Amino acid sequence: MPSDRISILRDPGIRVAPSLLAADFGRVAQQLRQLETGGADLLHLDVMDGHFVPNISFGAPVIESLRSQTNLFFDTHLMITDPLVYAKPFVEAGSDLITFHIEVECDPRRVIERIRDLGVGVGVSLNPGTPAEAVFDILEQVDMILVMSVWPGFGGQQFIRDVLPKIRAIRQRLAPHQRLEVDGGIGVKTAAAVAEAGADTLVAGSAILSEPDPSLAIADIRREAQRAEPWNRTNRSNPSSC
Ligand code: DX5
Ligand code: ZN
Repeated sequence: MPSDRISILRDPGIRVAPSLLAADFGRVAQQLRQLETGGADLLHLDVMDGHFVPNISFGAPVIESLRSQTNLFFDTHLMITDPLVYAKPFVEAGSDLITFHIEVECDPRRVIERIRDLGVGVGVSLNPGTPAEAVFDILEQVDMILVMSVWPGFGGQQFIRDVLPKIRAIRQRLAPHQRLEVDGGIGVKTAAAVAEAGADTLVAGSAILSEPDPSLAIADIRREAQRAEPWNRTNRSNPSSC
């Protein structure tokens, strides 16, 4: 993983990751600057292929042109059916971490190894209908697990509370240096619930970019999550001490 941005994942604490899916692409450079100066920790990049999900967003050339505009960590979420075919262009475009969906792969270990060989971090994502057990075998191999809290494909959907037990089940099995990201319907009203369950990396699109001041929205989400975080990452290996 690129050394200058890796610390944002490895250092303890809540991370807020605005999703560029909610941006106005007519003024995306200006919005990127607003997010960077406004306290965004990662930039979440939602790639949709119109096949795994019923929507199409943007591809590697767009990410490459964004790379020259910001030093934010690029957290690329591939909602596509062939992650191995496309991972390399997304790495070359400037992604720092590539997340693929467990539902599309019958050999996730091989995909994880191949993405890691490209020199970036690796995440695995689960749809709301996929049980936690689907990723138990590969947990040790990844830097991040991404729990979808809406069915992927569109921004602005309502948070699905049923995913909270899944967040808890996965958190209990992760090492302190691994991150647990949640994506979909996250905002000031839902941040506390997911952080209390064990999420430490919160993706938010419409709740940040539809606000007149994105920096205030980022700060509000971070505050709610920090207030609810059950223990900090430095003693997660021994949660019973809290
Ligand atoms: C859904 C995407 C999400 C989405 C989040 O397919 O993966 O990242 O953009 O958007 P909000 O925060 O608006 O639910
Ligand atoms: Zn996403």
